[in-house]
Amino acid sequence: MSMLKLPTLGIISGASRGIGRAIAIELAKKVDPASTFYLTARSMESLEETAHVIKRDVDKKLDVRCVSIDMSDERSVSGFNKSMFSNAGDISRFSHAVLVHNAGSVGIIDKKARELHDISAIQNYFFFNMTAPITLTSAFLQHLANNHSKLRKTVVQITSLSVTAPQKSMHLYCTGKAGREIFFRVMALEEPDVKILSYDPGLVNTDLYTGLQSSTDTEMRMLAKNLSGQPFFLSPQQSAETLCNVLEEEKYESGSIVRAYEVMNIDVGAFLNQG
Ligand SMILES: NC(=O)c1ccc[n+]([C@@H]2O[C@H](COP(=O)([O-])OP(=O)(O)OC[C@H]3O[C@@H](n4cnc5c(N)ncnc54)[C@H](OP(=O)(O)O)[C@@H]3O)[C@@H](O)[C@H]2O)c1
Repeated sequence: MSMLKLPTLGIISGASRGIGRAIAIELAKKVDPASTFYLTARSMESLEETAHVIKRDVDKKLDVRCVSIDMSDERSVSGFNKSMFSNAGDISRFSHAVLVHNAGSVGIIDKKARELHDISAIQNYFFFNMTAPITLTSAFLQHLANNHSKLRKTVVQITSLSVTAPQKSMHLYCTGKAGREIFFRVMALEEPDVKILSYDPGLVNTDLYTGLQSSTDTEMRMLAKNLSGQPFFLSPQQSAETLCNVLEEEKYESGSIVRAYEVMNIDVGAFLNQG
């Protein structure tokens, strides 16, 4: 039975490109057409392109709203948190609310850990990658509790292998992902009525991965370079489809970490351990 075929109120961050755009499109294929999606990122033009693809290829009736916010900016995030559903109308018409924390960045990778002395750059990184998703989740659950306490609620946060596999130059990225993972495990203990999933999308062909080629670390640069052409280097669509199948079946335990490669039965251990 599909756990997604319901009128759904969705928020997907970083939906302007890469994995987030693919999640928005794949999720749109699974939900009831009487659903409303909020897509967020900085680039309005690219968000509108995602909305266009959903309406063209999935369902033109789906209500898709694009919200341009810079999630590294405190004022922008707190404004969105306050008003997120102010124009959604009566939310009691929805049966499921899904929040996907996908937006993310690798941060500073052209310096070693011992060279990180720029306080505001570090604070900025953690604001975007940790504070913003934490406060967005809080606002999301509060809005729903005030308006529709019986709604099914799902929170997905995109994690990474980097939590357990430290890589040179990926200091901020590994730390941010590890912090988020444990935060959402704690929240899963506190909120038995909310299904919480950390999803590791695998190695995916996006701008984020291309950017790793500017790492200070030769091994990291080689790893990123050698990925293209590997059969396990996933397209955003492959990874997003896998996530949506996991959500649809809902067999995961709340707070758990689900890895795309485990679901897809792909072994990348040998590749990651090379060099
Ligand atoms: N690619 C991989 O192999 C891989 C592996 C493991 C985990 N992940 C995780 O998957 C998620 C998506 O990554 P991706 O590879 O799809 O990256 P991507 O192609 O670089 O996309 C990042 C998304 O985040 C948005 N974003 C960036 N800075 C933002 C800001 N300041 N405010 C609001 N939105 C912002 C971007 O939109 P705008 O530029 O329009 O703002 C874009 O939509 C991330 O959490 C990443 O850590 C990726």
